[in-house]
Amino acid sequence: MKIYVPMDSAAKALGADEVAAAIVAEAARRGLAVELVRNGTRGMVWLEPLVEVETGDGRLAFGPVTPEDVPALLDGTLQGLGPVEGIPFFARQTRLTFARCGVTDPLSLRDYEAHGGLAGLRRALGMTSAEIVQEVTDSGLRGRGGAGFPTGIKWNTVLGAGAGQKYIVCNADEGDSGTFADRMIMEGDPFTLIEGMVIAGVGVGATRGFVFLRSEYPDAIKVMAAAVQIARDAGLLGPDVLGSGRAFDIEVRVGAGAYVCGEETSLLNALEGKRGVVRAKPPLPALEGFLGRPTVVNNVISLATVPVIFEKGAAHYADFGLGRSRGTVTLQIAGNVARGGLFETAFGMSLGELVMDVAGGTATGRPVKAVQVGGPLGAYMPVSKFDTALGYEDFDAAGGLIGHAGLVVFDDTTDMLGMARFAMEFCAVESCCKCTPCRVGAVRGVETIDRIARGDAAAVPILTDLCETMKLGSLCALGGFTPFPVLSALTHFPDDFATRKEAAE
Ligand SMILES: Cc1cc2nc3c(=O)[nH]c(=O)nc-3n(C[C@H](O)[C@H](O)[C@H](O)COP(=O)(O)O)c2cc1C
Ligand code: SF4
Repeated sequence: MKIYVPMDSAAKALGADEVAAAIVAEAARRGLAVELVRNGTRGMVWLEPLVEVETGDGRLAFGPVTPEDVPALLDGTLQGLGPVEGIPFFARQTRLTFARCGVTDPLSLRDYEAHGGLAGLRRALGMTSAEIVQEVTDSGLRGRGGAGFPTGIKWNTVLGAGAGQKYIVCNADEGDSGTFADRMIMEGDPFTLIEGMVIAGVGVGATRGFVFLRSEYPDAIKVMAAAVQIARDAGLLGPDVLGSGRAFDIEVRVGAGAYVCGEETSLLNALEGKRGVVRAKPPLPALEGFLGRPTVVNNVISLATVPVIFEKGAAHYADFGLGRSRGTVTLQIAGNVARGGLFETAFGMSLGELVMDVAGGTATGRPVKAVQVGGPLGAYMPVSKFDTALGYEDFDAAGGLIGHAGLVVFDDTTDMLGMARFAMEFCAVESCCKCTPCRVGAVRGVETIDRIARGDAAAVPILTDLCETMKLGSLCALGGFTPFPVLSALTHFPDDFATRKEAAE
């Protein structure tokens, strides 16, 4: 009997370790031969711990499973969910980046290869650097860390930056509220990130890579460190990658826990052992990055998507999507929502379909009031904007941003003035303090919102003015984008600001 219990940290937080221990104990008690595989997660967090039992008809899902359910699970009498691929939330997805996550044993390189792993790298090793970069450009892949910058163009800049030492830096700082895609792939399919980084290295001529991983992800740190060692032992990393004569190796470095260290130049300072303060651009990191050398800085999901692009071809990847948003988007649905988790789909689905249909609306059963898309710097999207299609340009036109594709859902009891205040407070706390509009502006922003809350209507134009200054004058997107959540709350939910005024009067 083969049973899968996820080792993903969300599943563990919901009791997966206890369920795994109960399965081992109950099987021993019964003298039953059970092969227990700790897989990654399928991403359906509301069903965790989601246990799968392999049968002649595929893998049957059970969840959420408790240790008390284990005897019935082994008896075959526990009520199940049917084949895991048949669960509607899963069946509706197009899994390219996450194709293996939850399917394989994350630390089995053999399992990885048996499910398409390394096919992309083997193909890339037969190509010239220029051809590799062109393939990424042709795929239409854009950075999944926030800015949506075309990955092929970034790689081309590094490729053209002359000879000498170059670096690949994977941004695994994942600080956005409601996001977990980077963590899930690192815990559930770490070799795909390693393979993507090797292809990037071979493509641009870099021999060293770093994964800058946030300290708040202890499980991901352990899995990535183990996967790097396994890859090195297998000759996938090292002086002679898969016998190609090309060198590439990876080090995992742990961040110290600052949101701003996810900003690429601040991250590079932190990686160099300096304070995580934002650097002015230019120079671009692609030309003068880590230790002043040409550096590709890419998000985990951007790099983890590279193997499937090479395995299936740029055209296959580019075939999915909407307008200039090609391929799939790895959405992370969180907050007050009935069905939260990782949902990978081609760009183009509407926000409303995703929130109401896929995710099933709020967990409380109350009406949805707003959805914050794109982390703490993303706009609050009201229900009236639910027809907005998930695409970089469409969201931009609707006054929002996709960012790292995290969604946090709020019901009608949410006080949007409070949320606007929180956005300013977050910026004040997390500011690197290098530039005045952010360092001083965010503090003034909190004070100004407090004035509005006390009924001072004259403070409203001061707040909009302040937001304008922060937008135009901030050195990076922390100060520059905080106005998005603040102004979207003010624009779409004016009553929440007015009610306070009336209450004060
Ligand atoms: C305040 C701030 C925080 C950021 N945090 C992250 C992060 O945690 N992870 C990430 O990949 N990008 C983050 N970014 C974006 C990075 O600066 C950069 O654009 C990204 O790593 C580039 O990779 P990509 O092109 O693959 O998206 C952040 C940006 C800002 C301004
Ligand atoms: S906007 Fe804020 S975080 Fe960004 S450089 Fe200025 S002070 Fe630092």
